[in-house]
Order: sequence, then structure tokens, then C-alpha cells
Amino acid sequence: MFDFKYYTPTKVVFGKNTESQVAELVKEFGGTKLLIHYGGGSVVRSGLLKRVTDTLDAAGISYVTLGGAVPNPHLGLVYEGIELCKKENVDFLLAVGGGSAIDSAKAIGYGVANEGEVWDFYDYKRKATGCLPLGVILTIAATGSEMSDSSVITKEEGLVKRGYSSDYSRPRFAIMNPELTMTLPDYQTACGCTDIMMHTMERYFTQGGNMEITDALAEGLLRTVKKNALILRDNPKDYNARAEVMWAGSLAHNGLTGCGNDGGDWMTHKLEHELGGMYDVAHGAGLAAVWGSWARYVYKDCLDRFKKFALNVMEVEDKGTDEEIAIAGIEAMEDFYRSINMPTNLRELGVKATDEDLVKMAKKCAIGVGGQMGSAKLLDEAAMLEIYRASM
Ligand code: NZQ
Ligand code: ZN
Repeated sequence: MFDFKYYTPTKVVFGKNTESQVAELVKEFGGTKLLIHYGGGSVVRSGLLKRVTDTLDAAGISYVTLGGAVPNPHLGLVYEGIELCKKENVDFLLAVGGGSAIDSAKAIGYGVANEGEVWDFYDYKRKATGCLPLGVILTIAATGSEMSDSSVITKEEGLVKRGYSSDYSRPRFAIMNPELTMTLPDYQTACGCTDIMMHTMERYFTQGGNMEITDALAEGLLRTVKKNALILRDNPKDYNARAEVMWAGSLAHNGLTGCGNDGGDWMTHKLEHELGGMYDVAHGAGLAAVWGSWARYVYKDCLDRFKKFALNVMEVEDKGTDEEIAIAGIEAMEDFYRSINMPTNLRELGVKATDEDLVKMAKKCAIGVGGQMGSAKLLDEAAMLEIYRASM
């Protein structure tokens, strides 16, 4: 096993009606003037935003609001948020929504706490030295941004989607009421389950350092999400299934399932980020569409892990050679994606890319990772292109 640091400062308040505690949590973490940041309007339609502002009004906490964070959130709105925070002397950010609203809020937080161009952080030009404190009311179980150190933003010019990670952006608190996720479209629920599983799989398919305890947590989490994704497909109002998936989403991306290993492969995510930037696809669906091609490209270099995954997560029969078992595991995972209506290639994702487009994406992806990346197998631009081509 490798040495590791595990840092999860987020106070989690989990369960029914927990959003009613928002004012006391804001006070506990020192917020006096808030920016409430949200997405395209689901929180308005569900009445959640009104309940939150009523609670803050009653507690005498002042705030301004900024909606409009789109999936694959845009840099333009981040600039708007930074200006608004400076003008209104905002000292605390409250993101109400999913990964997009949370990530956009984190970027706003960097922009307020640091002088200069905020995109520099996402462009790997410099490191942030702080971030405005942030709290979250989560409405979709997916990215784990409610506990993670990451934020992913798309720059409209050139359609460049990039992530930036630092502990400064880890939320101070996360309110998680599984009931709030019951208004999700089925497609978004399935995208969320896919993303949650991928966050743990990225850390699972790695070369070395693996610990038995970390593997047990990872495999348990994967089996749990797989089972409950099917329950939610058939009964989206199942509270217990919503709760299992919601908590799994946080644990999948707060670092827990990476302890002791080399930190993760992350190439499926990097390949998806180019798709999200160029074609504006839902993140989870994009991951499902490229994972199978990535897995077939790398599995021979990471055979023990693929075999273990096949047996312990996908529960395939322990029969045949290691390679046959590994392939059976990959096929079983793709069957699972199909069973929750997720795509398993770019055509099913609805991406009509020419070979020229794939070449462009592979180039951008390689630039984005500094040339080459991957733990299960190190991938360069040529390998990325081959995976994109295989996923058509
Ligand atoms: O925008 P609104 O109107 O709120 O609608 C959203 C959006 O259309 C809707 N939605 C969310 N909660 C709902 C709801 N609709 C009805 N009822 C509810 N309760 O669902 C759609 C998707 O929302 P979004 O926030 O975009 O989803 P998600 O949480 O999957 O976030 C995706 C973004 O996060 C990034 C992705 O790349 C993508 O940009 N990621 C962030 C990570 C992180 N910060 O740690 C890690 C991930 O790997 C990922 O890259
Ligand atoms: Zn993800």
C-alpha cells in the first residue's frame, strides 16, 4: 500500500427535511451574506429555493441569488458570479443543486478569493491560495462535488472543459435529503449512478498500492449502487434506494475509495470531458459511452484488477482463463449500463463525430492531461484516438 492523506472536512447533514437546518449551518460556518447559486430552474419549480430563502429570511441572513448554471457549467456565468459577490460583499456561497451548480460556485469562490484570471487555475497556469467558503444543498446524487476538492468548468471559447482540484473548495457543509432527488428525470438518475460507480472504478483500476480494506469498500459501494440503480429504474420514489445512492455518491468521490492506491486512472473521465465540452452530453452518459472501449484497450495491462472486478462486483462465474473472466466482467458492466438505459458507445450517446472530430478530441485530451496519463495503462494521444474510434 502507498502512504496517503485523507481529508474530508465537510459536515454532512443527511436525511428527510434536513434543508430546514440551512440557516443554523450557515451561521455555524460564519456566513453573513450569501450568494445562493443554482442551475436551470429545477429548484425553483420544486419549491426548494423558496423554502431555503424563507428559512434564511426567518433567521435574518441576507443573500443574493444567481441561477443559470447549466450542465457542463460555463465560465461566463462564473465571471458574473464573481462580480456579483464583490459588489454585494458576499462572504459565503450556498450552492443549491447538482454538480454543475456546485462546481460553478467553487469557481466563483476561487475568483473572489484570488486576484486575476480565474481560468488560469483550470488551465494549470497557477494554483489558488484560497476559496470563499461554500455550503451545499444537494439535489442529485452523482458527482460527489458536495464533498470533493474538484470543480469542472467549460470555457465557451474553444469549448474547453477542464477540472481544477484543491482542498480550499471542499464544502463546509452538505445537506443531503434523498427526497430532493425524487423529482429527477430517470435519465439523470441513471447518469448519476454511472458517475458514482465510475468515481470508484477510476480508483479501482490502478497499478499497485491496493489495500484490502479499500478494495472491500470499493466493491461494496459498486455492488450497492448497481443494485439500487435497478431499484430506482423500476421505482424512482424508493426512499431507501435514493438514500443508498446519495451516500454512495459522496463516498465515491471524497477520497475514501482511493486510500492506499496510486490515486486513480481517470482516463475515462478525461475522455468524457472532451465529449462534454464539445457535444454538451450529460457527464454520466458520456462516461458509459467510452468506458467499454477504454476497458478493452487497457485490461491486459491490469488483468488482476479486471478479474477481481468481474468476480467481486459483476459476480460473473469463476470459469475460464483470467482474460476470459476479465472480458466477461466488462461485458456484464455494459449489460448493466444498457439495463439502466445508458449508452455503451458514442452513437448511442447521440454524438455524430467525424474522424476529424475524434482526432481533434484526442489532441485536446492529450493537451489537457499534459501529454499522457493513466494508471491501468498509460495512454498517449494515439491511444486516446484509438479508444474514441473504438467507441463509435
Ligand atoms: O439545472 P437544473 O434545472 O437544476 O436541472 C438539472 C440538470 O438539468 C437537473 N436536476 C438536478 N437536480 C434535480 C434536477 N431535476 C429535477 N429534480 C432535481 N432534484 O439534472 C440535470 C443535471 O444536473 P447537473 O448538476 O448538471 O448534474 P451533475 O450533478 O451530474 O453534474 C454534472 C457536472 O459535474 C461535473 C461534470 O463534468 C458536469 O459538468 N463533475 C464534477 C465533479 C466534481 N466537482 O467533483 C466530478 C465529476 O466527475 C464531474 O466531472
Ligand atoms: Zn464523474
